[in-house]
Amino acid sequence: MKTALRADLLDFTGDPGLDDLHSPLVRWRPGHWLLIGDDGRIVAVQPEAPGDDWQRHDHAGRLLTPGFIDTHVHCPQIDVIASWGAQLLDWLETYTFPAEARHADPAVAAEAAQRFLDALLAQGTTSAVVFPTVHRTSVEALFDGAARRGMRLVAGKVLMDRHAPDALRDDVAGAEADCLALIERWHGHGRLAYALTPRFAATSTPEQLAMAGRLLQSRPDLYMQTHVAENHAEVAWVAELFPQARSYLDVYASHGLLGERSVLAHGIWLDDIDRALLRDSGAQIAFCPSSNLFLGSGLFGWAQARAAGVAVSLASDVGGGTSLSMHRTMADGYKVQAMAGTRLSAWALLHAATRGAAQALRLGHEIGSLEPGAMADLALWDWAVGPVAQRRDSLARELHERVFAWVMLGDDRNLIETWVGGQRRHARP
Ligand code: GUN
Ligand code: ZN
Repeated sequence: MKTALRADLLDFTGDPGLDDLHSPLVRWRPGHWLLIGDDGRIVAVQPEAPGDDWQRHDHAGRLLTPGFIDTHVHCPQIDVIASWGAQLLDWLETYTFPAEARHADPAVAAEAAQRFLDALLAQGTTSAVVFPTVHRTSVEALFDGAARRGMRLVAGKVLMDRHAPDALRDDVAGAEADCLALIERWHGHGRLAYALTPRFAATSTPEQLAMAGRLLQSRPDLYMQTHVAENHAEVAWVAELFPQARSYLDVYASHGLLGERSVLAHGIWLDDIDRALLRDSGAQIAFCPSSNLFLGSGLFGWAQARAAGVAVSLASDVGGGTSLSMHRTMADGYKVQAMAGTRLSAWALLHAATRGAAQALRLGHEIGSLEPGAMADLALWDWAVGPVAQRRDSLARELHERVFAWVMLGDDRNLIETWVGGQRRHARP
């Protein structure tokens, strides 16, 4: 049966900029019906109720947004979220690598994937760009779990052939064989896509980076995900390891790893030449404010990136980040930019977590909006939960004020339901 939902519909028809509170690209359709076809796609949006052949869900007075897109998050790192007292490199050694090593066990990997995907849905996140581990079994588990839930997921085997514990190290030939087998099995299977995933420049040899670059160049429909310029000590180490590179980003560029389906997490310590390179290649930066604050990595300059024409999306980076909530991520993003003198609108934040991320992933036709033809990946929210948020909501005089309070004060308590491809996949307990 075809499904229809009534709520206050909020999405974007274009990029609303960083600080324009009155952008005409905000699409606000209060009390509208969203109609979903049998194929899980949005058919229409209309003010009047559809006929009896539609199964109607009336959520008048609630907010309906596109499902969130988290463009950088680590499935196995649920196990180390909120680990005390480290910066990036010792955090990896002390907490993260030992936890990831356990995912060689298929049972551990399978259980972790289910827990992780359900946790995303429980935050209203319907799409993600994900690091599993170096183990093929953890990639299989993640793709399999996403396929069962109908989620749009981009992921790939983590590549690490040096500077990692034995249990996490691969080699060039074995890694290439694994990538090829996984691409064959999963890339383009339903809503799944494969990303070549060199963890970061420090844990891959030049030969491994070159192998990944070759694969990416031979298959432009593949994605690439990695980390770049996150932390001072990391940047200095990469400069030592690649003395001939002009910059950290140049290591990836010179190995053929930058393209319009490349997602680079962090990018805090970049210069103008790097930003021009990102813009020209069409790669995007996944801004991870919670992680950058928690690990003390630094304050990403969104306005600078935007001025240079670089696409920026928002990401939780759990377990460096401390929450899978894109509400928390947006709120942290606002605060980080405030430190740099930029006051982001609620539109900028919400756009980066929905349509903006979709566009940067070249998936704008499928996710990130409430446009007919897009998949019905949806999150249904209460505007306010609890006396403080409810009081604040009641005093909001116009839409931006109301949405900004929802962004800053909301979280998973506000989430009523998450829909993926027209199916309800999470409901508030
Ligand atoms: N750099 C290399 N690996 C990681 C990781 O797992 N998390 C973060 N935040 N940065 C990294
Ligand atoms: Zn990360």
